[in-house]
Amino acid sequence: MTARQTILMFDSGLGGLTVYREVAAARPDADFVYVADDAAFPYGALAEPALVERVVDLMGDLINAHRPDLIVIACNTASTIVLPQLRKKFSLPFVGTVPAIKPACATSVTKRVSVLGTEATVKREYTRVLIRDYAQDCVVTLVGATALAGYAEAELHGTPAGDTALRSEIAPCFLDDGARTDTIVLACTHYPLLIERLRQLAPWPVNYIDPAPAIARRVVDLLGPNAAAEPGSTRALFTSGRVPQTVLARFNIRSAKPAASISR
Ligand code: DGL
Repeated sequence: MTARQTILMFDSGLGGLTVYREVAAARPDADFVYVADDAAFPYGALAEPALVERVVDLMGDLINAHRPDLIVIACNTASTIVLPQLRKKFSLPFVGTVPAIKPACATSVTKRVSVLGTEATVKREYTRVLIRDYAQDCVVTLVGATALAGYAEAELHGTPAGDTALRSEIAPCFLDDGARTDTIVLACTHYPLLIERLRQLAPWPVNYIDPAPAIARRVVDLLGPNAAAEPGSTRALFTSGRVPQTVLARFNIRSAKPAASISR
């Protein structure tokens, strides 16, 4: 019998759960460790050097403690700046989450695409290069949301933000300059947690692109397909020491604890 594979999923908070649920559906036989560095949430507010140092340090501790076969950085804000250093320092495979600009521009009919991310993600050179390489003939609007990731966390905790607050975060995505925006890239893993509300509040219907299914396919490409009938386990660790058990139960995660040994 071959050993079970371990997949470590990493985010600044609960947003990575939107990626976890797709990867876990594709590889239910794997063991998962979900790590939320929520002591430093939101990552969008951290300066780039501090974020790089923090994630690289934390990853060293996590790799030593859990010996994963693969790590998914389920966070655009981290992936768009830290991936090169992680790949340089550690020899195991990393799958990042970066704005899905290429598929969005390839499928937009009106050629009006918006990228909704944290202010940090939309400012990154990495995101600008994706636009330069893949926008083709599309007009791409970058929208840095200041509070949306926090609203997504609040929604999961049962204290949803009001419609006006949500509407003002997404309003700049909707361009109507003779042609209307028809595609919005969800460039923060927290935003799919709000997908129903984002659909309701859109001034006209758009295609919201969630990268999670593509990330799950990439994990299967690298690790191979589901290999066992028996489901694996999932543990969750929170660097803040505060464990949202009720939220995790909704994602079928029942084993969770404060990550005291990796607190920063
Ligand atoms: N989930 C994170 C992302 O995909 C970001 C939220 C944050 O910590 O600012 O960008």
